Amino acid sequence: MVRTMLRLLALCALSLDLVRAFVDYGNVYPRVYTLGSTLSIDDASPYGKASITLSPSQPFLTLDYGIEQAGFPFFIVISLSGPTQIEVKYSEEFPALAGDQSDGPWTFTIGLANTFRVETFNLTDSGKTESFFLQGGQRWQTIRLLTNTTITFEAVGFNSTASLVLPEHVPAHISTSNAIYNDIWDLGARVVQVACVDAGNAPSTWEITEDGALVRGQGTAQSAKGALFSNYTLSFASKITRGGTGWRVASSQNPQGAYFVLTSNYPVGKTFVNTNRTLLPANSIAFTYGTSLLPQETVTTTAVQYYPVNITIEEDTWYDISTAITPAAYVVSINGLVVASVSIADLPTIGSYFSVSDPYTGSFGFGPFHDQVAYFKDVNVVSQNGTLLYQNSLTSREILAEYAQASLETSVCLDGAKRDRLVWIGDFYHTVKVLAASTQRWDYITGSIEFIFAGQLTDSPFEGLVPIDPYLGGSPEFNRIQNTFAGLLDYQDLFLAGIGEFFHYSGNTSALQPYWTQIKALAQARLAFIDPYSGLIGATPEFADIGVFNFLGPVNGSAVTALNAYALQGLVPLAEALGDHGTAQLYTATAANLTRAINEQLWNDTLGTYSLSLDLPSNYSLTAIAWTILSGAANSSQAASSIAKLDELRCGVGYKTGSGDVCSDNYEISPNTNGFLLDALFKAHRDLDVRNLTIARVELDDFWSVMVTQNEYYSGASWEYTHPDGSPGIERFTSLAHPWSAAPTYVLPEYVLGVAATSPGYATWEFTPLLGGLGLTEANGTIGTPFGDIEASWRIAGDSVEISATVPRGTDASLVLPEGCTARYKGRSHRTGHIRLRKGELAHVKVHGWQR
Ligand SMILES: *[C@@H]1O[C@H](CO)[C@@H](O)[C@H](O)[C@H]1NC(C)=O
Ligand SMILES: *[C@@H]1O[C@H](CO)[C@@H](O)[C@H](O)[C@H]1NC(C)=O
Ligand SMILES: *[C@@H]1O[C@H](CO)[C@@H](O)[C@H](O)[C@H]1NC(C)=O
Ligand SMILES: *[C@@H]1O[C@H](CO)[C@@H](O)[C@H](O)[C@H]1NC(C)=O
Ligand SMILES: *[C@@H]1O[C@H](CO)[C@@H](O)[C@H](O)[C@H]1NC(C)=O
Ligand SMILES: *[C@@H]1O[C@H](CO)[C@@H](O)[C@H](O)[C@H]1NC(C)=O
Ligand SMILES: *[C@@H]1O[C@H](CO)[C@@H](O)[C@H](O)[C@H]1NC(C)=O
Ligand SMILES: *[C@@H]1O[C@H](CO)[C@@H](O)[C@H](O)[C@H]1NC(C)=O
Ligand SMILES: *[C@@H]1O[C@H](CO)[C@@H](O)[C@H](O)[C@H]1NC(C)=O
Ligand SMILES: *[C@@H]1O[C@H](CO)[C@@H](O)[C@H](O)[C@H]1NC(C)=O
Ligand SMILES: *[C@@H]1O[C@H](CO)[C@@H](O)[C@H](O)[C@H]1NC(C)=O
Ligand SMILES: *[C@@H]1O[C@H](CO)[C@@H](O)[C@H](O)[C@H]1NC(C)=O
Repeated sequence: MVRTMLRLLALCALSLDLVRAFVDYGNVYPRVYTLGSTLSIDDASPYGKASITLSPSQPFLTLDYGIEQAGFPFFIVISLSGPTQIEVKYSEEFPALAGDQSDGPWTFTIGLANTFRVETFNLTDSGKTESFFLQGGQRWQTIRLLTNTTITFEAVGFNSTASLVLPEHVPAHISTSNAIYNDIWDLGARVVQVACVDAGNAPSTWEITEDGALVRGQGTAQSAKGALFSNYTLSFASKITRGGTGWRVASSQNPQGAYFVLTSNYPVGKTFVNTNRTLLPANSIAFTYGTSLLPQETVTTTAVQYYPVNITIEEDTWYDISTAITPAAYVVSINGLVVASVSIADLPTIGSYFSVSDPYTGSFGFGPFHDQVAYFKDVNVVSQNGTLLYQNSLTSREILAEYAQASLETSVCLDGAKRDRLVWIGDFYHTVKVLAASTQRWDYITGSIEFIFAGQLTDSPFEGLVPIDPYLGGSPEFNRIQNTFAGLLDYQDLFLAGIGEFFHYSGNTSALQPYWTQIKALAQARLAFIDPYSGLIGATPEFADIGVFNFLGPVNGSAVTALNAYALQGLVPLAEALGDHGTAQLYTATAANLTRAINEQLWNDTLGTYSLSLDLPSNYSLTAIAWTILSGAANSSQAASSIAKLDELRCGVGYKTGSGDVCSDNYEISPNTNGFLLDALFKAHRDLDVRNLTIARVELDDFWSVMVTQNEYYSGASWEYTHPDGSPGIERFTSLAHPWSAAPTYVLPEYVLGVAATSPGYATWEFTPLLGGLGLTEANGTIGTPFGDIEASWRIAGDSVEISATVPRGTDASLVLPEGCTARYKGRSHRTGHIRLRKGELAHVKVHGWQR
């Protein structure tokens, strides 16, 4: 209620702002709950219309939403015996709920969602209370009563920010006789609903008021304008509304660097019962150098240093705070009085992602800690020589993008629902294909393309490249500062390949035409990386200085070169559709040269597969095997030999990515790279006559199955990583809703049901039922095309097979008959080969002589 009212006020006051309307998907409620004295999923009751009462004898509620949900938590109270505090936790997996901070806090980016997975509420009246913060992804929730009161809830749930279509009801879907495969397929249909966000559904997490920025406990948000500042004094005014206030200096754009939290005197009656006075004593400054005061499983933090403050820090009172970066120390003053001096020489070294360059350089940022609330205003940054470097009252919404806090105004797909909440361009490749095979929400694809290209650079050394992980809340104006361009260069190719895939499935020329110049500029930028000596993808001289890093493998290597060839090939049909034949020819010829160079220089007969790179001839990887097959570089015998090699990469439930990786208990098996491989294994089977699906079956039966068979970890969505024992791969940090892990969702319809487009938008398509190899007796499904749905099915009964397919008008379809069979269609007999199916009809084909 409070949040809604504040939101409405904000909307009225700023009606000139372009704030996109909330897309309302309605409320989502738990499926079952357990009421008791502690965390439990035993003897859960169906959640229904009955009210639920928490009391000192039954203070703990465990709520299970069944699958991953996203939204604004709300609580509808019928009655309470007095002001009641509750501690609420959210988690993707069940075991994390036992931890103090559940599966948080996030240490990476704010992502226009709550940084914390635990929040405390003070409920005082009956009616609805909605959290200010979005929780990006969770299946579980707990509510713990903190006060000696009794409270009765009419309802608890999320105001969903994600669409809620059940997997069986999304526009495209499939079903097979293997229930596990069906559950695996569903993961993709859910993940692209929770990890894609509509414009309007991720509002700013800063509230701008006449009194400055009102900021609730979250990671600090840094100004893009301060990125290059060094040795400065930051001063600002802050008023604590609850608990404390926080800020950073010498930070990277991600919250990383010198971090200060100032606590209030914790006034009686206004302080949450669960305030951790060990972590945050009253009237003190807590300092850390790194990400957060609290660790998040694998993301460790450095020790917290404490500086008691002599003056009493009152709530609802403005204080002038400053922090000077001096050669020896960070010197903090409050109202002109020095209260802390943090020795810079004694700072620990921090070694995490995107670390800061040195303790003197980097931006400043603001954000109170967990459950705290504070106002910030009147920011000044002054250099050592007295020059005013920055000044801002924080009273205008125009500053939000500078702090990566602007409300989302384009619909985009994120890498993960709960984290990182970045628009990673590499993840986009799988996302496009999963979405095409399930929800068909093309607006998320075109929105992501728009969002990413808005950041494309037009000058060297990055001319043509796009940001690899644009922030929600940021803006093109601050692109070069807020984003990374040089890291993970092959992500640029995965983005281009994703665009090609979008065109392949949708045939939507008009959606891509506005970006054609930008697409070509990016492709051109990547062509500059072709090494003139090797003909493989290498490093340009500029990048050799910066240091080149690719995700899929080293430069002058099989994986990155084959991926680039694949990306170019995928753009050829688009170039042709746009009448740009010169570009089509260039991409075709370049891709052919790249695949030739791979075969000439990297195929290694002794090894029995492609070498990882010129520098590492004895190493190989599943990404190299996958992309050499997908790009067409590998012929039948090369593909067969490479696939046979995969046994050596076996690691627990799945396969490690490279031969150089060490398979240990905490190895992170990547469903992302295994997804490229899964696609390649089926392609090799269908197109290259590699008639052995043993490994594809291991991938589905042993590897992806772990995401659907373990209730404590099950999220109904696909996981970022797994360990060899089948548990989530980076412990609680692991995103359990990551589209890059949902390849089966597009592989099963394409190769198992067997419907594949052979030209953009299924104008021509082939139906190749996969009758053997996976032990299935039946598969059926709907494939969405711009010409209408293709409904296809096959069912084995003894030695005959019933095959049917609707052929939308405007499409040309042929059925590829299984080897050694005869078929009857339209009263005529056919032998092995292709049968053209009649347009605009439901085709029934009866096959005889099928042998398993
Ligand atoms: C969800 O929140 C939005 C924005 O505050 C509001 O417009 C909408 O009515 C809410 N939906 C429900 C079902 O409460
Ligand atoms: C809790 O409240 C009940 C009823 O008001 C009271 O009898 C009891 O003493 C209280 N317990 C504590 C620990 O404050
Ligand atoms: C599709 O396959 C599923 C799983 O085998 C089966 O239960 C269902 O009846 C089939 N549907 C149709 C329309 O054939
Ligand atoms: C809870 O709200 C009541 C009523 O507004 C207020 O009196 C009380 O101080 C609040 N408690 C806390 C811990 O904020
Ligand atoms: C409170 O903080 C201390 C010190 O950081 C920590 O050891 C402890 O686990 C925290 N307790 C809770 C309940 O978070
Ligand atoms: C803090 O208080 C102590 C004791 O009153 C005093 O000795 C000290 O100088 C004060 N420190 C500062 C920085 O004001
Ligand atoms: C900032 O100060 C440190 C310590 O005095 C010094 O080493 C460094 O060069 C200064 N940086 C800049 C950019 O002036
Ligand atoms: C003062 O410092 C700023 C920023 O560090 C620098 O740009 C400026 O040139 C300096 N001015 C003088 C007069 O030294
Ligand atoms: C093609 O994309 C455009 C822009 O996103 C959209 O308006 C249009 O409906 C799409 N056309 C088809 C046939 O889906
Ligand atoms: C492909 O390689 C051939 C032979 O080296 C060369 O002549 C041709 O220019 C190359 N084509 C492209 C587009 O790079
Ligand atoms: C091929 O692989 C073998 C076996 O790992 C290795 O010894 C050899 O150096 C490689 N040959 C070339 C030409 O890269
Ligand atoms: C199929 O592949 C598996 C895994 O590589 C291998 O163990 C098996 O021998 C192969 N089967 C045949 C018939 O080649």
